[in-house]
Amino acid sequence: MTALLDVRDLRVTYGRRRGAFRAVDGVSLTVAPEETLGLVGESGSGKTTVARCVAGLIRPDGGGVHFDGQPLGPVGRRPAALQRAVQMVFQDPRSSLNPRMTVAAVIGEAWRTHPSAAPGGDRAEALHRLLADVGLDASTASRRAGDLSGGQCQRVSIARALAVSPRLLVCDEAVSALDVSVQAQILRLLDDLRRERKLALLFISHDLGVVHQIADRVAVMRRGEVVEEGPAGDVMSAPRHEYTRALLDAALDLDDGTPEQTGTTRDFPA
Ligand SMILES: Nc1ncnc2c1ncn2[C@@H]1O[C@H](COP(=O)(O)OP(=O)(O)OP(=O)(O)O)[C@@H](O)[C@H]1O
Ligand SMILES: [Mg+2]
Repeated sequence: MTALLDVRDLRVTYGRRRGAFRAVDGVSLTVAPEETLGLVGESGSGKTTVARCVAGLIRPDGGGVHFDGQPLGPVGRRPAALQRAVQMVFQDPRSSLNPRMTVAAVIGEAWRTHPSAAPGGDRAEALHRLLADVGLDASTASRRAGDLSGGQCQRVSIARALAVSPRLLVCDEAVSALDVSVQAQILRLLDDLRRERKLALLFISHDLGVVHQIADRVAVMRRGEVVEEGPAGDVMSAPRHEYTRALLDAALDLDDGTPEQTGTTRDFPA
């Protein structure tokens, strides 16, 4: 099947000359339509940098990103249809939503930015349907983002992304700030939405245990490179790379409640 998202030989350097740091060093990935690719790796491995290139927020200094065969340039230069097609959900829902805005205003803004996605008929009705799709009741529409729980905020962030009918959702640590039980609910919601709306997901997390719950395929990043990639079941049950095994051990230790390992601060073997 042809890839919906095709990241090819991506290179990103932060800083210049002596201070220059190669955060992403030749990453290639694909995401097929309606597929979830999990991108996992320890803190600083370059996952968010890949996401920012896909979102068009930074320009790579090598390689590139294509969506449905079209180059994905800086977000401001993307045709409106491509801007709509690729939407982001970030880690901290409280800082990605203006706390003073009502939920209705958040969604209204998305429709104003992309008038071609705005409902033709009754907007209140469309808003309530959208909220129902992410598991929020209609009364949430008039509440301010700052008054919602973390899980509710993340549902609003997802609704804002869905409001413009994307084809790819890039979720960067989208459940990392949530309690485990809320995490599971949001993961289930994302997976249901993917199926119902025929979305593809690029799901980024430092936690292999979380990625395993949602991904069809997994790519493992370390120090700016993809060190292993394959079907989620294979990567989890028979990891080929030592680094993947270490990530897996860290995830299992967390399940056991072993306190000293957090998955992000652990020292991985060189
Ligand atoms: N704007 C920037 N300027 C300089 N260095 C940066 C910048 N953004 C990220 N980096 C560095 O690039 C590397 C990759 O960062 P990135 O945020 O992509 O990692 P990550 O895998 O998303 O980590 P985390 O799991 O902590 O979110 C890190 O070493 C980081 O310190
Ligand atoms: Mg990150």
